[in-house]
Amino acid sequence: MKFFVDTADVDAIRELNDLGMVDGVTTNPSLILKSGRDILEVTKEICSFVSGPVSAEVVALKADEMIAEGRKLAEIAPNIAVKVPLTWDGLKTCKVLSDEGHMVNVTLCFSANQALLAAKAGATFISPFIGRLDDINLDGMDLIADIRAIYDNYGFETQILAASIRTANHVAQCALVGADVMTAPPSVIKSLANHVLTDKGLDQFMKDWAKTGQKII
Ligand code: E4P
Repeated sequence: MKFFVDTADVDAIRELNDLGMVDGVTTNPSLILKSGRDILEVTKEICSFVSGPVSAEVVALKADEMIAEGRKLAEIAPNIAVKVPLTWDGLKTCKVLSDEGHMVNVTLCFSANQALLAAKAGATFISPFIGRLDDINLDGMDLIADIRAIYDNYGFETQILAASIRTANHVAQCALVGADVMTAPPSVIKSLANHVLTDKGLDQFMKDWAKTGQKII
């Protein structure tokens, strides 16, 4: 499963990228707001050191305007994935931009039928939002499994990009049900290394090592 980092915080992306943990990046209007940066400028900076797909989201709601915005975003770098919402206008935009050879990430997906439409419109990525479904007491992971089954039934090549990942458990579950990609905030990716028994075991090793009186260097 590929790891995308869900942020427009350049320093956080760099830190994880240096560790080889970044296969791509996703941003959205809320993350651009949080960064306090200009969308074109920050996206260009991210693309200067991330070689995988970098999603940048259109903000128009009508297809013709979305297409124009998408083309402008795609000019930033060859690894831009234009992010469009799962509306009819977004699907029209997806079809046009995909046919032009651009990567398209269809976002705000909350149902298997929506994912089916995105695949038929030629999406490179479909982004089902796990955490936001969990927020309203629906099972986000069931949606990932349903989309996996549907795409496999018909050989769709659209990649399932599990989004709105909030916990380490979400990451493991996404890998188990076969998401192609997961995108998570840097804090969640870092938390994957945590385990209470690792901390406990290391603490014991350090205490015992101190008793040996030895040094390695
Ligand atoms: C995905 O592309 C979105 O940017 C993101 O995962 C949304 O996550 P949230 O529901 O935690 O805001």
